[in-house]
Amino acid sequence: MTDEDKLLVEMRKILGDAVVWDRAELSRRDPGVDSRNFTAAALVRPNDTAGVAALVAYCAANGLELVPQGGRTGLAGGAATTPSQVICDLGAMNSVEEIDAFARVAVVQAGTPLAVLQEAALVEGLDPGIDLASRGTCTIGGMVSTNAGGIMAFRNGTMRNRVLGLEVVLPDGRVFSDLTRVMKTSAGYDLKHLFIGTEGTLGIVTRVAVKLNPVAAAGATALVGVPDAASAQRIVRHFLGRTGISLRAAEIMWHRFALAMSRMLGIEPGQLPLDASCLLLLELGADDLGAATTALEDGLAAIWEEAGILDGLVATSNQQARTIWRLREETEQIERMHKDPPSFDVSVPGDEIDSYVARLEAGLKAIDPAYAPYVFGHLGDGNLHISINVDGPVSHERHRAIEDVLYSGLRECGGSFSAEHGVGLDKRDAYERYADPVKQELARAIKTLLDPGGTLNPGKIVSTRS
Ligand code: MLT
Ligand code: ZN
Repeated sequence: MTDEDKLLVEMRKILGDAVVWDRAELSRRDPGVDSRNFTAAALVRPNDTAGVAALVAYCAANGLELVPQGGRTGLAGGAATTPSQVICDLGAMNSVEEIDAFARVAVVQAGTPLAVLQEAALVEGLDPGIDLASRGTCTIGGMVSTNAGGIMAFRNGTMRNRVLGLEVVLPDGRVFSDLTRVMKTSAGYDLKHLFIGTEGTLGIVTRVAVKLNPVAAAGATALVGVPDAASAQRIVRHFLGRTGISLRAAEIMWHRFALAMSRMLGIEPGQLPLDASCLLLLELGADDLGAATTALEDGLAAIWEEAGILDGLVATSNQQARTIWRLREETEQIERMHKDPPSFDVSVPGDEIDSYVARLEAGLKAIDPAYAPYVFGHLGDGNLHISINVDGPVSHERHRAIEDVLYSGLRECGGSFSAEHGVGLDKRDAYERYADPVKQELARAIKTLLDPGGTLNPGKIVSTRS
């Protein structure tokens, strides 16, 4: 019997009715956004924390490598597998266990999709305060593991700022239980942060206490054409400074991206104002749609000249608002135009954005005159997404040259080579070249301490075996 056969027999014995797929079954299933997600020997889907702990302990004792997976929407290969590895799928742990409307806290299982939590919280007029394009599929556990950011991070912070408490299965099968539900704890090392943003390399998140916010009853959407990011930032600052409304989104798209997206989505020319160098998508929340729309129109009129606004449209129907959002969010269209294009996810301090984009355009042209990046992202927090207009993968040397253009100087100016998609496998080389060396040493030491056998999501972010 192979190790894999033994695992399947043992898991069926220990976990009773848990779903267990072998390699053949995996090959028939949808691996999500990354084909490497289902390269594994087997997938086990425990029904509860005890089941996850039993699986983890079995793998640790038998030297089997285990890769946790949630919604499989990750964009940095954090859930990628190799043929000898086993997947711990959190998909069966998908309930919202509790919503405390007074304390504004939800307790959810790790495999709960974000949209399910959003809907459950909305019943109480609340919201988890974090939102991403993949909301229907991405899971709360996965979002904790990558420290997801998304659309509202400029207001509410990233996932790290939304987590009050965590339950985590450690690499040896012990359960770290810190489901604190209160804002204030000054009770020694706040170790839950070790498991946020570490992509399942130090433990598997099984349950999460998430902070909730009151949500505005209605939202209005606008698309505004501006000459540059600085102008868009003046508009954002204007709305952030007003009372009685809440700015819920401030998303930016440079012209090349917006034009390509509109063509791919079949948006008729003239339907949206797309001529400017930069497009700013704004969403404003208020007590009702009329109030939100009026506040958006009045606010734009008040700042129009000062911000140098070139063009703009406040959506007059849900359908128009939806079209504006599709332009920004259906980024898989870019993947359809260019097969697997080199794509990046950086954080740039606000006052550096225009010069960064200018440097980026010039630097890429110096590598190849045909290179033209699609640039878009979350203006409110300076998180830019960049895809190059070529089919991937490009050669290792070429990829490094592109990274040098994109990442050089970022850490020094207070930005980051990875903003919200994580490091996974795909950005390990960049991590080794661009992350602070002392941080890397500490990370290796912590990984070795918690996972001395190196069986939990090995090779992601940091490897103890290299
Ligand atoms: C987004 O903001 O749309 C996501 O981070 C996904 C992407 O970069 O394509
Ligand atoms: Zn994003």
